[in-house]
Amino acid sequence: MRKELFAASLCASFCLTAASGQAPVRISTHETDLILSVAPNGRLYQTYLGKRLANEADLVHLTYNTQGGSDASSPARGWEAYPGSGAEDYFEPALAITHNDGNMTTILSFVSSETKKIDDNVTETVIYLQDKVYPVEVALRYVAYGRENILKSWSEIRHREKKPVTLWRYASNMLYFERAAYHLVEFNGDWAKEVQMSAQELQFGKKVIETKLGSRAAMHAHPFFELGLDGPPRENGGSVLLGTIGWTGNFQFTFEVDHAGNLRLLSGINPYASAYELKPGEVFTTPEFIFTLSDEGRGQASRNIHNWARRYQLKDGQGDRLTLLNNWEATGFNFDEQKLEQLMKEAKTLGVDMFLLDDGWFANKYPRANDRAGLGDWDVNRAKLPGGIPHLVQAAEDAGVKFGLWIEPEMVNPKSELFENHPDWVIHQPNRQTYYYRNQLVLDLANPKVQDYVFGIVDKIMTENPTLAYFKWDCNSPVTNVYSPYLKEKQNQLYVDHVRGVYNVFERVKEKYPNLPMMLCSGGGARCDYEAMKYFTEFWCSDNTDPVERLYIQWGFSQFFPSKAMAAHVTSWNKKTSIKFRTDVAMTCKLGFDISLQEMEEKELSYCRDAVANYNRLKDVILDGDLYRLVSPYETNHTAVMHVAQNRDKAVLYTYDIYPRFGEKLLPVKLEGLDASKTYRVEEINLMPGSRSRLAGNGKTYTGDYLMKAGLNVFTTSSTNSRVIEITQQ
Ligand code: DGJ
Repeated sequence: MRKELFAASLCASFCLTAASGQAPVRISTHETDLILSVAPNGRLYQTYLGKRLANEADLVHLTYNTQGGSDASSPARGWEAYPGSGAEDYFEPALAITHNDGNMTTILSFVSSETKKIDDNVTETVIYLQDKVYPVEVALRYVAYGRENILKSWSEIRHREKKPVTLWRYASNMLYFERAAYHLVEFNGDWAKEVQMSAQELQFGKKVIETKLGSRAAMHAHPFFELGLDGPPRENGGSVLLGTIGWTGNFQFTFEVDHAGNLRLLSGINPYASAYELKPGEVFTTPEFIFTLSDEGRGQASRNIHNWARRYQLKDGQGDRLTLLNNWEATGFNFDEQKLEQLMKEAKTLGVDMFLLDDGWFANKYPRANDRAGLGDWDVNRAKLPGGIPHLVQAAEDAGVKFGLWIEPEMVNPKSELFENHPDWVIHQPNRQTYYYRNQLVLDLANPKVQDYVFGIVDKIMTENPTLAYFKWDCNSPVTNVYSPYLKEKQNQLYVDHVRGVYNVFERVKEKYPNLPMMLCSGGGARCDYEAMKYFTEFWCSDNTDPVERLYIQWGFSQFFPSKAMAAHVTSWNKKTSIKFRTDVAMTCKLGFDISLQEMEEKELSYCRDAVANYNRLKDVILDGDLYRLVSPYETNHTAVMHVAQNRDKAVLYTYDIYPRFGEKLLPVKLEGLDASKTYRVEEINLMPGSRSRLAGNGKTYTGDYLMKAGLNVFTTSSTNSRVIEITQQ
């Protein structure tokens, strides 16, 4: 959470005089304009959001879309940029405050704005607003990324009343749309069922997407959406807005279609049970709402976000990623040094970069032999691992791979020394029966002492094992038994202060260990927001590694996340499918394995080694290329995606037959993103040893034009069949 004060302090004499005559504030990417204008009444309205306008001179034609007057004496009911409560607008407000005298209204007037060019691509704009009657000030902040066509927006709220005020609504951003219809795609989920996509047309009234889960926050609703503005979102073509909020806790998107058929979109922290007491002079910074508006469909919108994330948001967004072998699916809690050393050797045999030790390595008084005990006691279990972590790091090095470690440092089992010694560090009810989610409770990260403790877990492991190469950071429980012993009578701040505490820890880890790659995990993919991803190189999409299910899950997450941020492992889920199919599915993301090589036949192992070698050879294209989703698993019995290198000299095409019908009609797949004027060689790779490609045209050269217009016949009528095809410019 940013703590900086407003860049320019709001001088009382300057305030409240601006307004009419003020030039519109123009926030632009190369493709999009968001224009906010000051009406004669001195207030700020959205006057345009759409394709970038070619002529600055045309801005004078923009109108306020108000109902009622808009002169100084008669307030305008309209598209106010950041509407306060209790004014003439009767819809959900962006900001609501109970002032010291009990008054619940806030009306903000424009004070000033400034725009700063950060470099040739990024522009920052801040707009200062103030209430004329109460000393409340709001800064609306916007960052525009020109080439990536991304806008980020958030607000900062402060006041100078004598005593604290209560904030009960504090949106990051508000946007308005005037279209014939609005089609929303939302992403719901559960454990092993992440990012299920569903679409609906918005009708009069409100549709809310939100979570109240606190820590494993995105388990049932993911913090992003797609909004079709001229029909349901399509892959190629059509106007669509993709939006997401950077908040690793309770979030809320409110879509309100009003009586006039216009849509109001509010994004921010979920204010549920979170009326926040703000002290005089303190700044309340809301999370970033990040969005892109595309006129070329959701495919281009996704690529905008991927490019932006790699360049500006993900931890080490432009860096490499480590392939790995994890032990969770192969051993569960049941391992010892010998078994792990065997797996480390297997990692080397596979050709991956690292061995990752999962849950079950710690705690002595209450050993972590299952998920009922030990969480919180981060000393290595001496019975299982007498040599400790240093021995394992060394054993991995001896085997020729790096070593990574699983932790879940925000949580505690009641059966732990941590709980015995510090029950006051745990979110739980003092006077009610305790409810346990996965037998565990959430540490009270609003408490600075607990923040120190959690940071200390990572710091101690790293200090003792400086060559440890990676952490998988898990979070398996929502906030339950909602009561913070630290916040005492200020329980309404728990949900917000808890997340700020989590960020405090993330920030300290990143500051001290800037080059340490980390995977974000939350019982699968229940933490997947762009604020957390500033601190993590990748996230675990789902415990569901059945390759068929993964095709849908990866399709869903790819709407918002680049391939290098999405961890995908080859496991024994759905053993009815071949190891080739399972690997070809995981190949499109950040590849890993979580399987014992003992289960594989010689030719399967040989296939996997080849696939890892191909992955390493093509890593630049897979992790940093543009993603094109060619055929949707939601619409057919097949699916296909491809990565195209930024310079378009190389591409990788992945095609999957899921459960085709007998004698089904098969259509060619038209490629995308290639250079039409160039010639490319098409070659199937990732073949099982001893088998040859049956791809028609394998080894032939084609023009990009042909591949994109006529396409390739890649699909078959075999169930769970896959192909990986390398496309190389000649
Ligand atoms: C949930 C994660 O999603 C799994 O990958 C594994 O790490 C378990 N937790 C360990 O308890």
